[in-house]
Amino acid sequence: MTTKPRLHICTTCTASSADAATDPRHGKVLFDKMVETCADQDLPFDIKPAQCLTNCKSGCSVALSGSGRWGYVYGNLDPETIITDLCDLAARYANTTDGIVAWRERPESLRRNVIARIPALD
Ligand code: FES
Repeated sequence: MTTKPRLHICTTCTASSADAATDPRHGKVLFDKMVETCADQDLPFDIKPAQCLTNCKSGCSVALSGSGRWGYVYGNLDPETIITDLCDLAARYANTTDGIVAWRERPESLRRNVIARIPALD
């Protein structure tokens, strides 16, 4: 069985380190909006919640990972405006074999938000 690449969304993030914790957290808002927006789509990736990606000072954070693919952590995402672009990026990521989405092929809103990239296991 082949596992789809995953988009993990931190559900415990606040939008910035200057913001007090909100209820619901900004990250939970982002997760819920992504799930709602993607509910009727046959996506090439799965969406999963995560509790803290240890990127708490950089706003809403997500991670892309998949078998044989580089992993990426993105931060400073605005849950009110990023849904379409995040879905586009995750689909492009899922459609690669190595996880590398060229800078120019990323949605413009996500070109400068990479916090880290992590080598694949295999
Ligand atoms: S709470 Fe989201 S990265 Fe720590």
